Amino acid sequence: MNNTPLKVLVIASEVEGLVKTGGLADVARALPAELVRLGHDVRLVTPAYAKTREVWSNWPHQSLCVHLNAFEETWLATRTGEHQGIPTVQIEHSDSFDRAGIYDNGTTPYEDNARRFALLSKGALQWCRDNDWQPDIVHANDWQAAIACFYLAEHFRYDPFFAHTRSVLTLHNAAYQGQCSSTWLRTLGIHEQFFHPGAFEDHGQINLLKGGIRFADAINAVSPGYASELLSDLGSHGLGPIFRERADALSGILNGCDYGQWSPETDPDIPVHFKHPDDGGKARCKAALKQELGLAEGDAPLLVSISRLADQKGFNLLIPALWETLRHTDAQVGLLGSGDPNLAAQLHRLAREYPSRVAFVEGYDNALAHRLEAGGDAFLMPSIFEPCGLNQIYSLRYGTLPLVRAVGGLKDTVVPLANIDAEAGQATGFMFADPSAEALITELSNLIRVYHDQPDTWLAMQTTAMTQRFEWAAAAKDYVALYQQVQNVPRH
Ligand code: ADP
Ligand code: GLC
Repeated sequence: MNNTPLKVLVIASEVEGLVKTGGLADVARALPAELVRLGHDVRLVTPAYAKTREVWSNWPHQSLCVHLNAFEETWLATRTGEHQGIPTVQIEHSDSFDRAGIYDNGTTPYEDNARRFALLSKGALQWCRDNDWQPDIVHANDWQAAIACFYLAEHFRYDPFFAHTRSVLTLHNAAYQGQCSSTWLRTLGIHEQFFHPGAFEDHGQINLLKGGIRFADAINAVSPGYASELLSDLGSHGLGPIFRERADALSGILNGCDYGQWSPETDPDIPVHFKHPDDGGKARCKAALKQELGLAEGDAPLLVSISRLADQKGFNLLIPALWETLRHTDAQVGLLGSGDPNLAAQLHRLAREYPSRVAFVEGYDNALAHRLEAGGDAFLMPSIFEPCGLNQIYSLRYGTLPLVRAVGGLKDTVVPLANIDAEAGQATGFMFADPSAEALITELSNLIRVYHDQPDTWLAMQTTAMTQRFEWAAAAKDYVALYQQVQNVPRH
């Protein structure tokens, strides 16, 4: 394998340690960090959000003139520094990024999101030019950065500076596509000739993700399972035709886990460290968690979940399944989540009905997320779709057996106990396929039965789960192989 260091420009709208709404942020920190460790020359480009001002406000400042289109110029500033060991470029534009939210005002997406993230994307490329930093790879993440692939391919088409640069678009979640009215075409610099169903056009609107898929030199999904689902009508979020057109350029690379942060042996956020599921540490974490959540004492299985409150995560199955399970078993439930107020209201209702058995903490709380992972017996993740999913991977490491739906990255990371009478050996969790509350109820009752009646099986599964590793070192090598492969092909 060729070990020449690559210059990689990573563009992401959120990064853990700066701002985070979901797993994209975990990846946008962990992958660049690993690339740096492997000796590559990385620049991570993100918006300079007002809420992270204390990180970047003292970094050297440079003006940057960006032309999204041929008619107007926008002056931005860049701030360059090192954050969490990663050389970072922050794109400063107070009109765009000095707002209370990242993507929305709490309920409604900002109406100019397309322009905000187009400025991030074009600004990132322009920064390279102004600083004579010639990237081998522009690595765009999700719809927010997808248009960078178009700008590279079309706006900079004849620019010798980028002649050897190739783009990679990573799909963390293709359900979010960055749609906006076609009245933005001119502002975004998307010529009419690219506003057709094979590029940016989608039911009369602009679809930024779709345009990115059309123009990227390589595309990858965050798990092999999700990559293959994107080729189907059912799993492609309406983008089946364009994914099938680009099938040769589409691959899957499973995310890694940052075990520096998510390990029961070293986690600073949990009350007691543990190495084995039965060395007493996990039991003490569970007891402390139950006390913190106000749950009754006893040997009931504690089912936990940490999630964005969004339909994607399967709450329409989970909520009825929990009502039923609580009625017929002794299970206890600890939930942490923020998002859809309607889902939150339903979870609050469940907790009110079962005050000593159900706790729902509405909000975003990283330390509590760690305590739930450590103290839970099982982790519930019945997603409707799941590009990769990180929480089930964290759960495995803490011996908190995941119960997942057989979809996307969940299917790629959890080995189900298919037959509860079988040898546990390889099994690390529980899985159901049909997206119905009934199927989930059946699997929940299997889980509770194994917990109570087959403690040896449960322990064997925990032991196997805790030895699973999804290392970033391996995932980063796959990305490097993809970068090298795409460098050798003519621009798409
Ligand atoms: P997604 O990115 O679709 O939300 P993932 O499982 O890939 O799902 O990643 C979610 C990440 O966000 C995990 O690191 C998880 O711990 C974290 N997270 C989600 N919701 C919360 C919350 N309410 N409080 C703390 N952490 C959360
Ligand atoms: C997205 C997906 C999630 C994935 C994460 C990181 O938010 O919903 O499944 O793990 O991105 O790639």
